[in-house]
Amino acid sequence: MVLSAAIASPLAARLPRREALQTVAGRAGRLFGAAVRADALSADLGFRSAVSRECGIITPEIEWKWAYLEPQQGHLDFAAADRLADFARVAGKRIHGHALLWHRSIPPWASAVLADRPDWILVRRFLSSVMPRYGDVAFTWDVVNEPVEVGAGPDGLRRSLYHQAFGPDYIERAFEDARMLAPTAALFINEFGIDHDLPEENEKRLLLLRLLERLKKKGVPIDGLGIQAHLDLAKQPYFREAALADFLNDVGSLGLQVRISELDVREANPLQPVADRDAQVAQAVGRYLGVALANRAVGSVTCWGLSDRYSWLSSWGRPAGLNRGLPLDSDFNLKPMANILNVAFASLINSA
Ligand code: XIL
Repeated sequence: MVLSAAIASPLAARLPRREALQTVAGRAGRLFGAAVRADALSADLGFRSAVSRECGIITPEIEWKWAYLEPQQGHLDFAAADRLADFARVAGKRIHGHALLWHRSIPPWASAVLADRPDWILVRRFLSSVMPRYGDVAFTWDVVNEPVEVGAGPDGLRRSLYHQAFGPDYIERAFEDARMLAPTAALFINEFGIDHDLPEENEKRLLLLRLLERLKKKGVPIDGLGIQAHLDLAKQPYFREAALADFLNDVGSLGLQVRISELDVREANPLQPVADRDAQVAQAVGRYLGVALANRAVGSVTCWGLSDRYSWLSSWGRPAGLNRGLPLDSDFNLKPMANILNVAFASLINSA
């Protein structure tokens, strides 16, 4: 693999001061960004300037989710969500709106209502309060997050509260409302666990493809698929280029765009020397992007965080120290993962 070779060579470590990731991505006709949190952006100048420098798009990591915005019925609190939007407006970034319907971010009060007397008005009211508010800065949205689950039922759909309350058609209802509320935005389904050649992931890719086919056939206003790409070094032996390439071809041939939406790498052995860890992370990213970016349908790459200082992989109970699965380390130094992202975008320019 060309990209893996590039990172393995000592040359990668000696790359000259490179262009910002958003710049090299832009020259390759792609977008680069990261998920960020409003509290980190406000409190940490170093982080804010790294985000300003590297990212063309940002995804609100938690602040635009329903449970966060409306912890009590009728009391919408946009303070943190607005701070992210204002940052984006001032810094000239675009926002990827995330995530409107997600089974893990329904406020408890809404869960109780949906379980008891399902009324779509509740969902519509939430969409109406968020989407137009950010219409000037959010140009893409995750309308439904993680709808597929292997073994859930013949339709392949997760038996979420939305599914229980409204049946399988909740997906098209959400997209139709979203299209009315954001007529020019690109609307996405976002999914995880579809990256490897493992029985469950193979099955999930198939179920997801069937779902996308059904939606397109019905004329549902969906524009694309987000592939989360939370990579895991323990699963590297099961990454097979052809499996991902075929899937991307299938999705692209439905006329859908693809975003790599939450890229990061969970480490398998954080006790190894840092240089080895960083090389393994970069290699996994290089292999993945070598396939993903070769497909024109893949228009953007967003990492789930920019710096290891603010990674959900670090904060979620990793006793052996910080996970190093993002492009910048916790002091905002560029790591081999940043180099490989750079090389991956740059190789598209050179081959164009
Ligand atoms: C995660 C955030 O990173 C955490 O801080 C939060 O507590 C839970 O959600 N898939 C998604 C994201 O679509 O919204 C999730 O983000 C990570 C998995």
